[in-house]
Order: sequence, then structure tokens, then C-alpha cells
Amino acid sequence: MTAVTDFLLNRSSEPRLEAPAPDRETLNTAFACAARAPDHALLRPWRYLVVEGEGLKALGELFASTCANNSDEQEIEKLRRAPLRAPMVIVGIASPRPHPRVPEVEQVMSAAAGMSFLGLALQDAGYGVMWRTGAVAYHSAVHKGLGLDDHEQIVGFLYTGSVSAAKPAVLRPGVEEFVRHWP
Ligand SMILES: Cc1cc2nc3c(=O)[nH]c(=O)nc-3n(C[C@H](O)[C@H](O)[C@H](O)COP(=O)(O)O)c2cc1C
Repeated sequence: MTAVTDFLLNRSSEPRLEAPAPDRETLNTAFACAARAPDHALLRPWRYLVVEGEGLKALGELFASTCANNSDEQEIEKLRRAPLRAPMVIVGIASPRPHPRVPEVEQVMSAAAGMSFLGLALQDAGYGVMWRTGAVAYHSAVHKGLGLDDHEQIVGFLYTGSVSAAKPAVLRPGVEEFVRHWP
């Protein structure tokens, strides 16, 4: 077994995160890894926003603004505080564009693959990551506030930082449960 396989077999998402966030050099390397995602016709159909510090509060305000019931103070506060669960949130954005051979879904999948590589690279550098979406990822107010164009979509919010308490192991399915040889 190689170190890469061992790393993949043992990785876990980590929801409990604290400062420090990934440093600039680690971030740059991790984004370079994200750019190695499979990418049909090399369209580069992705971009990222790095949010930290006061930006996390601003992101929380955007999340809070999506609450359908503006008298539900508890829900509003929960949304407002959501980005504060980590010292850094990286917004993964798919930027698909019309192409004769590459449908939009392939471009969104490429963006998701990049997000995955980004997370793995940050974990390899010793940081924790947790990929989250929720209704806020699909809300037009969040898209507008983050400056997405009409053709863009959010593939996820990658919460990252130092692991404050490791998550208990998640039960993994046996390979025989989801793999068949065909025909
Ligand atoms: C596209 C996508 C969106 C997700 N959104 C959420 C989310 O909003 N909240 C959450 O608790 N987990 C979410 N997850 C799942 C976690 O990132 C994580 O994979 C899950 O908790 C299982 O932990 P593990 O990665 O250690 O197996 C999402 C995963 C993906 C791929």
C-alpha cells in the first residue's frame, strides 16, 4: 500500500475546527492541486473564494438573509453563526460555459473533483476540512452576495482549520456493497 492509498483510506471530514487556518503557502499548494482535477477540454470551469476574519461574519449575514421566516430568531442566529464554525471557509464555484462536446454536468463534476482535491491537499498538510452545502448554497441571495454570475453555481463551502477534536470514525461500506463486475 502506498502512502497515498493509506491516506485516502484513513481520511475523515472534521467538523470541529479552530484557528489557525491554513497558511498562504499551504493554500497555494492546495489550490494548485485543485487545478489538477480532471477537466474535459481544459475549460477550467471553476473558481474559489477564500473567506476568513470579518468575511466570515459577512458570510453569516448573507446566510441569515436567506431565512424564509424573519421572525424565527433562532434559525436566523443559527445561519448567522454557521460560517464561524471554522477560521476559514473556501467557496467552491462551478463556472460552466456552453461547449459543443462538454455538457454543463461534466463541468460541474470537474469543479466538484477540484473541491475534493483541494480538501485532500489541505488534509495532507495537517488541516481539517468539512465540505458543506445546505439550502444556503442554492439561494439566490447568497449567489448575488458572493458575486456569482447567472451561469455559476456553488459546489460547496469547504470549512477548514486546525482540528480541535477529531470526529469519531464513520462506518464505511464494504466494497462488495457498491461494486459489481459487468457483464
Ligand atoms: C456536495 C456535498 C455537500 C455536503 N453538505 C453537507 C452539509 O451541508 N452538512 C453536513 O453535515 N455534511 C455535508 N456533506 C458531507 C460531509 O462533507 C462529510 O462527507 C460527511 O459528514 C461524512 O464524513 P466523512 O467525509 O468523514 O465520511 C456534504 C458532502 C458533499 C459531497
